Amino acid sequence: MSSNDSGNRVLSGMRPTGRLHLGHYHGVLRNWVQLQHEYECFFFVADWHALTTNYEHAQDIEQHTFTTVVDWLAAGVNPGAATLFVQSKVPEHAELHLLLSMITPVSWLERVPSYKDQQAKLNDRDLATYGFLGYPLLQSADILVYRAGHVPVGADQVAHVELTREVARRFNHIYGREPGFEEQAEAAVAKMGKKASKMYRDLRRRYLEQGDAEALERARALLSEQQNLSIGDRERLFGYLEGGGRIILPEPQALLTPQAKVPGLDGEKMSKSYHNTISLREAPESVEEKVRTMKTDPARVRRSDPGNPDVCPVFSLHEIYSDEDTRTWAAKGCRSAGIGCLDCKKPLIDAINEEQATMRSRAEQFEQDPDLVQSILLEGAEKARDAARETLDAVRSAIGISYK
Ligand code: TRP
Ligand code: SF4
Repeated sequence: MSSNDSGNRVLSGMRPTGRLHLGHYHGVLRNWVQLQHEYECFFFVADWHALTTNYEHAQDIEQHTFTTVVDWLAAGVNPGAATLFVQSKVPEHAELHLLLSMITPVSWLERVPSYKDQQAKLNDRDLATYGFLGYPLLQSADILVYRAGHVPVGADQVAHVELTREVARRFNHIYGREPGFEEQAEAAVAKMGKKASKMYRDLRRRYLEQGDAEALERARALLSEQQNLSIGDRERLFGYLEGGGRIILPEPQALLTPQAKVPGLDGEKMSKSYHNTISLREAPESVEEKVRTMKTDPARVRRSDPGNPDVCPVFSLHEIYSDEDTRTWAAKGCRSAGIGCLDCKKPLIDAINEEQATMRSRAEQFEQDPDLVQSILLEGAEKARDAARETLDAVRSAIGISYK
């Protein structure tokens, strides 16, 4: 595959943190299931990423990886449609990470927002490591090694895709020029006259080194204004502006995952660390118990008190699970105190359990036969490696260390 048709590739990864929950399902997995039919998808378990924040508890990673993949399969991710694999089975991620580390300024990593945020938040962990500083670059390698065009991520990961774009741009800038291209481009710059040449060079540097989009705009405008450039030189200078010559590592786009707000049992965002989750493939009695005791509008103390669905987390679940008739019934009944909270929760318990039943039945064969999961992952890793090797061949030869 050439780097130009990579627009159709999607790559995303998930850390192995154990059982997935309804937040993952409605936030991420349903999106993946949709994408797998529209794009060539690569989905992987980011086991090395788990080590970057938790190297002291590495003993759980393997079990969690297995559980994560079974949850994906349960949710309807289809190994016939998408390529599923484990990061550490594709060592090309590590090779590209290393090569990219040579050209990545430390300051770019220090200014990634999650670097300081996580250090402040996870203060029980040792995050003063080289690996933790470099993990967004590892993520860049994950993406670029497949030359993926689209990366479905949540809002918290957009900065990492942005870093990836900057690193790709810098790589192409340093290693992507064709023989003779630079000389010709430089000669064309000189033809613009002293003032315009200097301006072009400054703006170009600002764009290539700092990813300054405004500088790119201004440089393009500057080129458009030039009267005495031939068409050939004009084209050369537009190309030169964005790194010039060949694009070995195309810049990916973030595909922002629509934020399904799945409330947890306490009304906060559903999250494992808040202990407020309903897992995928949870037993029906447990789902029932959890929803029955789930937080409601706190103003509705007695059955006879009217409530407000707009502030009730149970109603947010209706927005995900119920049809319009049921939602209207619940909202009206709540406001008029015509129904009790347990009445309101009943159709939800049924809907969640119905969804879970499908997932449990999909997961059953995999739980009983772990070798089946192993063979899916093995096949996935082989496919992923074929794609990754192609990129590494191009990368090594662009750098000049291919030793053919
Ligand atoms: N860093 C991501 C997270 O913590 C997981 C991840 C690793 C990822 N590599 C990726 C996501 C590449 C998208 C693309 O959620
Ligand atoms: Fe919430 Fe439903 Fe109770 Fe109203 S009736 S407070 S929407 S659970």
